Amino acid sequence: MDRIRIVGGQQLTGSIPISGAKNAALPLMIASLLTSDTVILENVPRLSDVRQLMRILGNHGVDASIDGKRVGQTETTGDTIRLNAASVVDTTAPYELVSRMRASFWVIAPLVARMGEARVSLPGGCAIGTRPVDLLLMALERLGAVIDIDGGYAVARAPGGLKGGEIVFPKVTVGGTHTALMAAVLARGTSVIENAAREPEVVDLADCLVKMGARISGAGTSRIVVEGVASLGGTRHRVLPDRIETGTYAMAVAMTGGDVHLEGTRPDLLQAALDVLVQTGAEISTTNDGIRVKRNGHGIDPVDITTEPFPGFPTDLQAQFMALMTKAKGTSRIRETIFENRFMHVQELARFGARIRLDGDLAVVEGVRTLKGAPVMATDLRASVSLVIAALAAEGESTIHRVYHLDRGFEALEKKLGACGAVVERISGER
Ligand code: EPZ
Repeated sequence: MDRIRIVGGQQLTGSIPISGAKNAALPLMIASLLTSDTVILENVPRLSDVRQLMRILGNHGVDASIDGKRVGQTETTGDTIRLNAASVVDTTAPYELVSRMRASFWVIAPLVARMGEARVSLPGGCAIGTRPVDLLLMALERLGAVIDIDGGYAVARAPGGLKGGEIVFPKVTVGGTHTALMAAVLARGTSVIENAAREPEVVDLADCLVKMGARISGAGTSRIVVEGVASLGGTRHRVLPDRIETGTYAMAVAMTGGDVHLEGTRPDLLQAALDVLVQTGAEISTTNDGIRVKRNGHGIDPVDITTEPFPGFPTDLQAQFMALMTKAKGTSRIRETIFENRFMHVQELARFGARIRLDGDLAVVEGVRTLKGAPVMATDLRASVSLVIAALAAEGESTIHRVYHLDRGFEALEKKLGACGAVVERISGER
């Protein structure tokens, strides 16, 4: 298993190209199951989750290929991938594949909408909480699917096709909204999704579906209306920039100090997090092609946050923000309201000398003057990058083990940080 070695204490200075968003690319790839025509996705990040989803789609019969390199492309230019689901040969998504990546459960929606049946393994819990799929199944039922649970599989059937209906989510769910959208676009009649997730990745999926011929209004608000159509066609779509990667590097700069241009991203994708960073003392400005983050030597001011659905402070930046607060000039309170068990990074941050007390969904972080490098263990995707941020600001050397978590969601992390002056290297192999 690879590990990453970081020698902390360097300011970050330079430019970091922001990749396409993993959490947009995954549902967009799944949406290719809705049509027999080719869907071409540009700016797809090179990540292990994307490769895994290509295998899963391949199992259903989707012909997936990655375009070759073009002149001027660099290692961090995203891939262009072509997906063609002209013949869906299998409507079952087996446990071995779904259990490795929760988002793959979402294939249930396009499969039942287009093929009239789907058999998808229940994903089970994961490191950040129980993460049930009851609301996703409720949405499909509201559109006329009959759902059975059989041998650990969710079996959805709609032999005569889905019918438009009203879906009212009792809590905001990103996956539930993606699922409802992908099912409703091919349902007969009108569907209304109430309390829909407003995340930019939902808007990106809706934009792509509209290009494929879907009739959707209200994406980006909490009420989405879909007029079903008989079939969808192919399209070409560029994946939006990754707001979590953007916020992660912004926090790294806020932590180490320095001056970095985050290229190819947009502030409106993460305004709540940028506002919080400004309160901590970072200087943020918008450029023609991205965001510039600077911090001088005045120290980090403590700020309290609560994670919320978009447009609030994202849960996927909570761990990174906690890393930043470990060196604040005072005490901050971080409340996690989306997932019940998303504090595994606390114990690992403590290994750098951080002082954090947990009380249910609240973490109280007492800033310390210095962090000291340590060997630490990545536990999930966002937790692991919070350890990278702490290591960049810690005195001396740190080693982060189990970096396969990082490879699921951060493209070329060592290269991007190394180009800005960080001392960071990947060490391959056992230990
Ligand atoms: C998406 O997960 C993201 N994943 C997550 O990012 C992100 O943390 C999350 O949205 C919240 O923003 C992808 O986009 C691939 P939810 P998702 O359904 O859709 C509960 C990362 O690191 N719930 O919005 O699975 C659920 O347990 C990942 O990139 C139900 O109770 O999240 C949670 O408490 C981690 N029943 C809340 O809703 C359901 O049927 C929100 O979850 C579904 C969800």
